[in-house]
Amino acid sequence: MGKKTPEEIKFLRQDGITKGFKVIITGKGGAGKTTLTALLAWAFVNRGYKVLAVDEDPQMNLPFALGYPTERSKELVPLSQNLDYIEEKTGARPGTGWGAFLRLNPPVEDVVDRFGIKLNEALSFLVMGTVIQPATGCLCPENALLDAVIKHISLRQDELVLLDTQAGVEHFGRALAKGFSHCLVVTDASFNAMAVATHSIKLAKEIGIKRIYLVVNRLDGGPLIQRAKDLIQRFDIDKRVDSIFSLPQENGLFELEPAVIDLYKKDPNSALVQAVKDICEQLIPKS
Ligand SMILES: Nc1ncnc2c1ncn2[C@@H]1O[C@H](COP(=O)(O)OP(=O)(O)OP(=O)(O)O)[C@@H](O)[C@H]1O
Ligand SMILES: [Mg+2]
Repeated sequence: MGKKTPEEIKFLRQDGITKGFKVIITGKGGAGKTTLTALLAWAFVNRGYKVLAVDEDPQMNLPFALGYPTERSKELVPLSQNLDYIEEKTGARPGTGWGAFLRLNPPVEDVVDRFGIKLNEALSFLVMGTVIQPATGCLCPENALLDAVIKHISLRQDELVLLDTQAGVEHFGRALAKGFSHCLVVTDASFNAMAVATHSIKLAKEIGIKRIYLVVNRLDGGPLIQRAKDLIQRFDIDKRVDSIFSLPQENGLFELEPAVIDLYKKDPNSALVQAVKDICEQLIPKS
């Protein structure tokens, strides 16, 4: 990873960018959510932001995309499996008779300090783990805790939050995406991905996310660009989003996996890095 020294980060922060905003990254499976989240995290760090990257996907790919060593994967305990913390906060231990004692809005101000993993002075991540969400809603301790954590994170003012989600749209049905100011809906130039994107855009709007963007990933030459344009028109997407961004296919990514963030070191002038930096600039509030 292209690590910066604390001095360099301090220098970058001298422009006074400290206040955060909250970005949720969503889209169809395999569209490129985690790749974009990781590359964007580093783009924002380089622009002087303090970034908290949150992995909502139980597959927990984000830490490794951000450069967390794969050989330390056993040390990553998602919050949903941290039984002691869940019990400490909700008053109930998952899997035990909890009913009467469950605290629904547990105080979780300490969650990032205790469980956030610092990759460097400006970049940390937090892994959430699996959320069980039957159609009826689940008042289990894990859900009470994870909902409280997301709510707490969405209120933190001193850092930019990037929330990488599980494929699909389920997170919009929960409190999960509430409090987020920006939504990046990632798609590729396929019909199915655009259909999921269209649904996500609608749901993001319904829960009140102010800025919604489409990101068309893996564009590789004219025919794909044309197909993406046709689908955007067909689904009437351009009228429903604030902007549409595109990301090029980057064949060198494959060999960097899972640490895709290393693209900044290996090929800082690549078209993908430039396109991600461009998204970063567009997202930064102008005031
Ligand atoms: N612009 C790109 N160029 C080349 N490969 C890419 C690009 N974006 C993503 N990929 C590759 O596509 C695959 C899926 O990407 P990624 O894991 O980011 O998707 P995802 O939406 O997070 O998937 P999931 O839904 O499984 O979480 C990865 O192998 C990744 O390296
Ligand atoms: Mg992912």
